[in-house]
Amino acid sequence: MSAYVVSVTRRIPRIGVDLLREQSDIELRVHDSDAPPNKNELRSLLDGADGVLSLLTEQYTGDVLDAYPSIKVLSNFGGGYDNIDVEAATARGVAVCNTPGVLTAATAEIAWALLMAAARRVPEAIGFLKAGEWSSWGPTMMLGQPIVGQTIGIVGYGRIGQEVANMARGFGMRVLAWDRSPNTKPQDGVEFVSRDELLASADYISVHVPLSAETYHLIDEDAFGMMKPNAILVNTSRGPVVDQDALVAALQNGTIWAAGLDVTTPEPLPMEHPLHKIPNCVILPHIGSATITARDAMSSLAARNIIAVLNGEMPPHIVNPTVFEQSYNEES
Ligand code: DGY
Repeated sequence: MSAYVVSVTRRIPRIGVDLLREQSDIELRVHDSDAPPNKNELRSLLDGADGVLSLLTEQYTGDVLDAYPSIKVLSNFGGGYDNIDVEAATARGVAVCNTPGVLTAATAEIAWALLMAAARRVPEAIGFLKAGEWSSWGPTMMLGQPIVGQTIGIVGYGRIGQEVANMARGFGMRVLAWDRSPNTKPQDGVEFVSRDELLASADYISVHVPLSAETYHLIDEDAFGMMKPNAILVNTSRGPVVDQDALVAALQNGTIWAAGLDVTTPEPLPMEHPLHKIPNCVILPHIGSATITARDAMSSLAARNIIAVLNGEMPPHIVNPTVFEQSYNEES
């Protein structure tokens, strides 16, 4: 008889499912669909589960954890874990794991794709071409913003922010960074400045902070008011870090020049939302980590996190290690 039940709440790259399947003491339940489980399906997945390979589209509050007291580990498929109430999980002895590191390059690449697409109006130009509006090459047609030699400001200097900064060197950019933690140290050639100085000096502002009570609406009306009129905001972190109504106003009034968003509030953003109508706002469907390599690595890591916790070993990436240390100490 299997000792543990593990549920995977969405179709994920095979590698992680295979790893879990290879464990003789694990009974696996997989919601093998690209659509999220409905309420009943989620209930069947969570009921009696010891481990859950969870997604950022599901909310794990204290109430949810109380309803499914068998859960010992939530292993989120992603670097972010703002869909999980970590404090509530910790209080209930539930290990919370995530998959940082393996998606750093992929997410930094998407930040750059958005930056370049917004600066050089790529989606707008494609739309113009496909609509048959292009009649002749013209000196004032589709003018964008330069990138080489400009200033980029990195808001949140963690793994992904640092990778975006590294890539900026190739464009000969001045790199400014701001981080909430006073202990974070800049790499060579990166200038640490205050948040306000960054907002006022950067031509490009790329946001890389996790979503928390402290970072909710970090980029608000006041922040937009400090930015240069040619500024381009790029957000690949979480939608609610940016006050979206303030962003709409900033783009409509010309307070800033453009925006590139991989994340919005909500996701998907309803098609009638004003941001979809603003030509200098480039929106992607949250594909920051969507490379084959990154998603395979996330799948494997999320599975290995679960296997480790259920085997009483320290998982590769745990958000609340005190839970694990505590239960380990109790057993030994
Ligand atoms: C993350 O890792 O948090 C991403 O947003 C999901 O790819």
